[in-house]
Amino acid sequence: MKITLSVIKADIGSIGGHIAPSQPLLAAVRAHIEANAQGRLIDHRISFTGDDVAILMTHRRGVGDEGVHKLAWDAFVAGTEVAKRQGLYGAGQDLLKDAFSGNVKGMGPAVAEMEIEERPNEPLLFFAADKTDPGAFNLPLYLAFADPMNTPGLILSPKMTKGFRFVIMDVNETSGDRVIELVAPEQLYDIAALLRDPERYVVESVWSRATGEQAVAVATSRLHNIAGKYTGKDDPVMLVRTQMNFPATGEVLAPYATAHYVAGGMRGSHNMPLMPVALNTGTSYFDGPPLVSCAAYAMREGRLTDALDAFAHPFWETVRARAADKAMEMRRQGFFGAAMLPMSELEYTGIMEKLAELQPRFRIRGEAVERKAA
Ligand code: F6R
Ligand code: MG
Ligand code: MG
Repeated sequence: MKITLSVIKADIGSIGGHIAPSQPLLAAVRAHIEANAQGRLIDHRISFTGDDVAILMTHRRGVGDEGVHKLAWDAFVAGTEVAKRQGLYGAGQDLLKDAFSGNVKGMGPAVAEMEIEERPNEPLLFFAADKTDPGAFNLPLYLAFADPMNTPGLILSPKMTKGFRFVIMDVNETSGDRVIELVAPEQLYDIAALLRDPERYVVESVWSRATGEQAVAVATSRLHNIAGKYTGKDDPVMLVRTQMNFPATGEVLAPYATAHYVAGGMRGSHNMPLMPVALNTGTSYFDGPPLVSCAAYAMREGRLTDALDAFAHPFWETVRARAADKAMEMRRQGFFGAAMLPMSELEYTGIMEKLAELQPRFRIRGEAVERKAA
């Protein structure tokens, strides 16, 4: 049976700054979906990670369906009303356009979707990250789908030895979706050469070369490309199918033990470790640290089980403690060097204005002396 999985998420307002949405906001989003799901959705789940609300939906209408996208958009509009009424900070922040026009792509909310031939049992993972951007998933996906040091299945499972196809997007291109397809293992170095630059090249999807099935869908939107200015970090969502022809759930989760440094944190402008957290966790330290949650589901004919919280397990407590140490270590050097993102990625324009002001005051040594003499 063909089933479409769609996850659409947006930051539409938070309590206490950019920490987490309120319960009434979540209730409004849920109520809108429940009242209007009939005839459109098979099932849905509402959750939050940091200040972002995610609507996970299953249906039979294919990817990019107007009815499904409008349902999510209108639910976010309903949530925004509540956010405004409660005085939440950044109410409606990610709804960058005034009116819905066919598809939420390019309108602010992040979208990850895939249409699949549902397996008799369908284990899947829904990842949501906050205070970072889509490139945060580059390293974990590379390790899970291309590196036998992380994923023994790549050498042990006959279903996986053909490797995986990566579709990678150049997210700096604003005229359209600029993508390249590369296969692992043959083009491993090419994949690595692109993925090392996660602000520009982002894994959009991953496919099994043995069966042609899609394993991964990542939201790749860049808000500042849509709005032309900083309006919040991109805070990506991702769907990953696991087991059988795909890496096992544990192989997909393992890379998050690195708590790798990603772009994000305070003002979307720093390098900070990605902390795996429990579902429905808000932000705290330094408007972060960047966080990632993972809800594990089984699905049958589009119906989802309850979410299992993949990062709630005691194992991740050690990782969280390490991530906190790494975060504080980086913060010790404030704005210097590697702690802050390069100029092109700074999300606030203040520093650009300051540097522009200072430029005319620079002198090439010798010039002043020569002028005096003249
Ligand atoms: C980062 C983020 C926050 C804000 C910061 C300042 O993605 O959302 O770190 O950038 O709290 O927010 P404003 O400029 O709204 O006061
Ligand atoms: Mg956010
Ligand atoms: Mg935000």
